[in-house]
Amino acid sequence: MDYKNEIQKLKKAKNAIILAHYYQIGEIQDIADFVGDSLGLAQKAAEAHADIIVFAGVHFMAEVAKIINPDAKVLLPDMEAGCSLADSCPYDDFAAFKAQYPDHMVISYINTTAAIKTLSDVICTSGNAVKLVESFPKDQKIIFAPDRNLGGYVNRVTGRNMVLWDGTCEVHDILTAEAVLKLKEENPEAKIVAHPECQQQILEIADFVGSTTGLLKFTRTDPAKKFIVATETGILHQMQLDSPDKEFLVVPSDETCSCNDCPYMKLNTMEKLYLALENETPEIVMDETVMEQARKPIERMLEISRKLKII
Ligand code: 13P
Ligand code: SF4
Repeated sequence: MDYKNEIQKLKKAKNAIILAHYYQIGEIQDIADFVGDSLGLAQKAAEAHADIIVFAGVHFMAEVAKIINPDAKVLLPDMEAGCSLADSCPYDDFAAFKAQYPDHMVISYINTTAAIKTLSDVICTSGNAVKLVESFPKDQKIIFAPDRNLGGYVNRVTGRNMVLWDGTCEVHDILTAEAVLKLKEENPEAKIVAHPECQQQILEIADFVGSTTGLLKFTRTDPAKKFIVATETGILHQMQLDSPDKEFLVVPSDETCSCNDCPYMKLNTMEKLYLALENETPEIVMDETVMEQARKPIERMLEISRKLKII
């Protein structure tokens, strides 16, 4: 079947749009109406006028789209597309953790379940975390969840001392500074770019740290011709499209594998995308109360991002 053609036809007939994350396979990124990082995707979902949003990403991202655009039918091509980072922060454990710090506000990374968002004062993404934290007074006590690497990075950049939940992403946390340095030794002219979900030792030697959109912008505009990329492999598709004359080297996750694929992101396929559109399932269906409570911290993030002009 010519999935590309069929998906285009269904999209038109059903007034649907496809939002895709940079970690999706190239074919899906190419057919999407918008490809972006978590912040960009949330902003697009908020302003979408479509009847159907097909979310080519992972579950928490589709949940955010549903929460901020509740009238749209939000489809996730594979319901098993979760996130190890979101899973590292279970509701009951986090509620007990939060209770230990009654005078702290909670800033949660968008990679959380909607349930965790209901316990949060404001949501952030890797694209706005530093500026968002800086928008609160220096003496504001903060719990940051769930990524300890991103939280530690924000603490170092802002000079804050946020209390960190001890969660990680299984894809980024496995990358080592040794592997990055080995590549750098073999390619001394290459610049190192890293996603803030990587370990501190990698972030400290990186020439640039940022969200997927940030990394893409850096590799596009920086004069260097070679980059060592410490994040998931899907981003290389856009990097290569944006800068065909540049070379991108993926940091191998261990000695036998050079494929840092997020197993959840990569569950989505063109066939599943087509079937989701054709059958209008699997659909994100959420409890109204949870949606209402989770919407507040997300809208607060979007509002602060608008004010700070973070797009
Ligand atoms: P971005 O918001 O930077 O795209 O990151 C999302 C993510 O899941 C990283 O692992
Ligand atoms: Fe979650 Fe990590 Fe996959 Fe991003 S790369 S969706 S944080 S498991």
